[in-house]
Amino acid sequence: MVELALPKNSKVAKGKVWPKPEGATNTREYRIYRYDPDSGENPRWDTYTVDMDQCGPMVLDALIWIKNNVDASLAFRRSCREGVCGSCSMNIGGRNTIACTKGSDEFSGVIAISPLPHQPVVKDLIPDLTDFYAQHAYVEPYLQTKTPEPQKEWRQTEEDRQQLDGLYECILCACCSTACPSYWWNGDKYLGPAALLQAYRWIADSRDELTGQRLDDLDDPFKLYRCHTIMNCAQVCPKGLNPAEAIANIKSLMVERET
Ligand code: SF4
Ligand code: SF4
Ligand code: FES
Repeated sequence: MVELALPKNSKVAKGKVWPKPEGATNTREYRIYRYDPDSGENPRWDTYTVDMDQCGPMVLDALIWIKNNVDASLAFRRSCREGVCGSCSMNIGGRNTIACTKGSDEFSGVIAISPLPHQPVVKDLIPDLTDFYAQHAYVEPYLQTKTPEPQKEWRQTEEDRQQLDGLYECILCACCSTACPSYWWNGDKYLGPAALLQAYRWIADSRDELTGQRLDDLDDPFKLYRCHTIMNCAQVCPKGLNPAEAIANIKSLMVERET
């Protein structure tokens, strides 16, 4: 589904086949993208064989096993190991997802793992998400109000709170934005599904009082309107969210305020 953006002028070399673990009878092969921009060498696909009897069931377990037992130089991000931090996002078997909740047994044959596509690579499976985070900051993802602060708390009805379901659960893994063709081609101007889902999360919040300003900030031919409803974003989101729907809701609010 998604293609990997290679560093300019580079070919991906075949790479190294690392030794199989001695005496292992239950093994799996992982083909992993290796690239160190500082080395001056081309990227390559290295092949590792993992002893599945000594390793946990998730793809992240296999990466940690490889790092601990075969090749300490392999670089990847991870933190929570339970699908809440968004750090371990990568492309596994041709699809963006998070490695800690994806079982190796969900794939057949050799499992190919590469960084999130169409982003610069810091090293191996670590993409440079500087622009992605700047886009998140652009939508000012925090409560903003004009009326004086209440003595206790900003209150919300149960129904208003429910408007945030399907939005607040985002873990900012970037799987959706880096699977979006519009983001691939216009990532410097289009905010992308993750940032727009967050923008809508605050537009939809009954306590926030800057809705008009938030819509003004998105009312631009590129920031919002590059979404062509291709739906890759919703298909890959590991939390089952639907950024395309959030984007459509923002567009509807834009139309409503014009009429
Ligand atoms: S629906 Fe919009 S945001 Fe989602 S992948 Fe398609 S163009 Fe990108
Ligand atoms: S919407 Fe889903 S895929 Fe996109 S950043 Fe949030 S959790 Fe990740
Ligand atoms: S390690 Fe936190 S989401 Fe995978």
